[in-house]
Amino acid sequence: MGEFAPCPAEALKAAETVCGRPVELTEITDRRGSAVWRATGAVTTVAVKYGYGEGEENTAREVAVLDQLSGCTVTAGRAAGGTWYVTPWLEGPSTWKVFAPVRDGGEGQGRQDDRNPVLAEAVRLCRAVDDLHAEGWVHGDLQPSHGIHTDTGVKLIDFAWSWHEGTGTPLWPTFHGGITHLVAPELAAWITDGPQPVVPSARSDVYALAGVLWTCATGRWPLDYTAAGIRPDVGPAKRRAAIATGRIPLDSATPWPEFQDVLRPVLLSGPEDRLTAAELGDALASLP
Ligand SMILES: Nc1ncnc2c1ncn2[C@@H]1O[C@H](COP(=O)(O)OP(=O)(O)OP(=O)(O)O)[C@@H](O)[C@H]1O
Ligand SMILES: [Mg+2]
Repeated sequence: MGEFAPCPAEALKAAETVCGRPVELTEITDRRGSAVWRATGAVTTVAVKYGYGEGEENTAREVAVLDQLSGCTVTAGRAAGGTWYVTPWLEGPSTWKVFAPVRDGGEGQGRQDDRNPVLAEAVRLCRAVDDLHAEGWVHGDLQPSHGIHTDTGVKLIDFAWSWHEGTGTPLWPTFHGGITHLVAPELAAWITDGPQPVVPSARSDVYALAGVLWTCATGRWPLDYTAAGIRPDVGPAKRRAAIATGRIPLDSATPWPEFQDVLRPVLLSGPEDRLTAAELGDALASLP
């Protein structure tokens, strides 16, 4: 791990304008040329994201998306060597964190008591994704950490690979998918065989959504690579090529069978037969 990137002075100034001076900066993540801080002042708290080097393009694209997303407030600019933006801090746990009591697993009635609120949050995540789709957007990089469960609903973050179906054109020359483990087989096939630019779809989002929920519930990626003879340390290109075959079985661990029974067909069906995010939410909502 190298040093955390310094926050650009222009970004700090923008945060101070929104939050009130002085602002306290807390380092959240800094990887692959993308740093995030929580900035808190007397008035409010914002997230500051700074894309530099290899991460600059991604952040510049994300700004273009955030600018167009309904209900999103963003201030952005360029600093020497990068692009930054400031947006309201979303207070609440990630989907991964919401599922912690389920993964930790109690017994008997306690277990059911743990699961009920988590199931409700899973439904809310599906509805947040459906709301995005209903407005013509595809997220493109759904992950266990990209849903924030706030008091006023689940909010999605990290829109670097998002695009609006109405515009018809992707914003990138090359797309390799988000987390490889959550890339839908048809998308993995397209990435593997080309041509670029590859474009994620609402249907590939739903695969990733089901994969997120599966991963959060089981603590394991959805596919059983070992059963398919794929070594755990294989690189992303080979892993994607294997996913593209659509023949890797699902992981056999079933800590929450009823929940996983709803997700399984979504992860195993082709894009045409896959539920929508709304249908997935409804199916989960009807679990006893
Ligand atoms: N608006 C926000 N409100 C609350 N937390 C945020 C916000 N934006 C980012 N974060 C936090 O910062 C982390 C990193 O943000 P984000 O995923 O956008 O950055 P990233 O550099 O693209 O990360 P990765 O490449 O790992 O996906 C998130 O997982 C979340 O914890
Ligand atoms: Mg991210």
